[in-house]
Amino acid sequence: MKRTHTCGQLQIANVGQEVVLQGWVNKIRKMGALTFVDLRDRYGITQLVLSDAVQNEDIKPEYVIEITGKVIERKSKNANIATGAIEIEVQHLTVINKADLTPFEIKDDITAQEDTRLKYRYLDLRRPVMQNNLITRSKVNNIMRNYFNDHDFIEIETPVFAKSTPEGARDFLVPSRLNENKFYALPQSPQLFKQLFMIAGLDRYFQIVKCFRDEDLRIDRQPEFTQLDLEMSFATQEDVIEMIEGLMAQILKKIKGIDLALPLQRIDYTKAIEMYGSDKPDLRFELVIQTLNEQFKQTEIPFFKTAIDNGDAVRGIFVPKVLTKKDLEALTETAKQNRVNILAFAKWSQNEWSGSIASKLNDAEKATLLKTFAVKAEGTFLFVADKYALASQAMGAIRNHAAKLADLIDEQQFKLLWVVKFPLFEWSEEEERFVAAHHPFTMPTSDCLASFDTDKASAFANAYDIVMNGFEIGGGSQRITDPEIQERMFQAVEMPQDVIERNFGWFIKAYNYGAPYHSGCALGIDRICMLLSHAENIREVIAFPKNSSGVDPMSNAPDFVDAKQLAELNIQHKK
Ligand code: AMO
Repeated sequence: MKRTHTCGQLQIANVGQEVVLQGWVNKIRKMGALTFVDLRDRYGITQLVLSDAVQNEDIKPEYVIEITGKVIERKSKNANIATGAIEIEVQHLTVINKADLTPFEIKDDITAQEDTRLKYRYLDLRRPVMQNNLITRSKVNNIMRNYFNDHDFIEIETPVFAKSTPEGARDFLVPSRLNENKFYALPQSPQLFKQLFMIAGLDRYFQIVKCFRDEDLRIDRQPEFTQLDLEMSFATQEDVIEMIEGLMAQILKKIKGIDLALPLQRIDYTKAIEMYGSDKPDLRFELVIQTLNEQFKQTEIPFFKTAIDNGDAVRGIFVPKVLTKKDLEALTETAKQNRVNILAFAKWSQNEWSGSIASKLNDAEKATLLKTFAVKAEGTFLFVADKYALASQAMGAIRNHAAKLADLIDEQQFKLLWVVKFPLFEWSEEEERFVAAHHPFTMPTSDCLASFDTDKASAFANAYDIVMNGFEIGGGSQRITDPEIQERMFQAVEMPQDVIERNFGWFIKAYNYGAPYHSGCALGIDRICMLLSHAENIREVIAFPKNSSGVDPMSNAPDFVDAKQLAELNIQHKK
């Protein structure tokens, strides 16, 4: 390398040395006969001092330059940057490459639209905040690789061109030119392959792997995302949980310097919904949701009375803040987004009651509310009344939103937990049948082994999700290894025999040749990195993500293709 140092390296100890630096012009300030330039690279910023004699060529922001010069001590030091004690007296400057005016400034705080940032992602990635996100991600990958290596896992790649097995999200399809009218599917996860590794006797597998799901995008979802995928033979839920906990402890220690207390808290799915209205509760704050049907069984408040008479649930929380009109409007909007139209409230402050239902609350109800929520200081009660599942979901979203409004979240905290004992099935309104809640290879819990296919609504799974700060960062399960249970499972989700045979026959056959019992898990690396980087969405930790419409504004993918390409694939547009 021609450069002697990076732009983040030089210290007071280097004073007097002759150095060669290369990098981008970050900022230029003219002061009389001198020009001060901040030279930037991935490692930091170094201040250059140029006399008019040296500056034989005009330089502008984002030019790539090379300088030769002498390290001198700065008179006014800058404690905010690593190289703030020194500057370089430039003797010679060469422009390596010129730059046009960039569409936004290369600095952390910018107001550019996200699509502009994505269109010029290579410039966006010059910003230190984005470089740090990618550096964190690289470190996380490294920790994961080392951890699993140390625990005797082997890293094995699985095919990207796989078979479509429509169960779960929608597949991305890839037409095969060599096999007319046939399609590969991009894998939603390497689930089936990793199970076959266990049958193959590979014992412990892991992979950092791209997965593809054609689903609606959200702040924590991308059509292609990365999993840390693993599977362990002769292992149960407990073994996998322990393994993942060890990994998360290392990640938090090495990236954040945080000691994670193990074992992590566990909570049954049913209880998570009851207490937090979500199967991925944010436990950085309390705000426990209560079902209040019992407390309001004598109520005269029509909103509650009708709901209770209909067999619906009245669900509420107490927020330790007297919420403003604006807060309440915002929370009502959240309720509506979750298909619940009315958010009732009552404020309690200095022993006075006010709010939409306050005047109708009798003294006994007031006392019960204060007792139920163990209220000690002023605040606001929020209520919804609807079908239990819907009311819970809405209250779960309101809980998260209210915590922000009441400033209850410590952003530096990392709260992890396991949600366990998930329902084995969920009812699909669209398909009017029970579908596998996780995937159809998930083992029912031992207490419902006899009845899972007859009493589907009360069947539970040996499945577990790991949650961090209100995001599901991973999930896994014990797998079905008994062909007879597998057969019953397919029947339970009403999968016709020919569909089972066509989609999964190749896979279930393998279980006739001697399989160890096995369990596994997959972590969402993008989500973990988003949280570690305190980023607002996963696009911030992905080098080249798709925007919320699934488009890459830089290359404009997806795009139309030539008629010739389509013809080769025997595909025609339906006009
Ligand atoms: P699951 O579907 O729960 O399990 O996925 C595992 C984890 O992957 C992350 N994730 C996503 N991240 C970004 N964008 C998406 N669209 C997206 N979808 C999922 C989440 C999630 O917890 N094969 C099973 C694992 C197993 O049983 O071993 C699976 O894929 O963080």
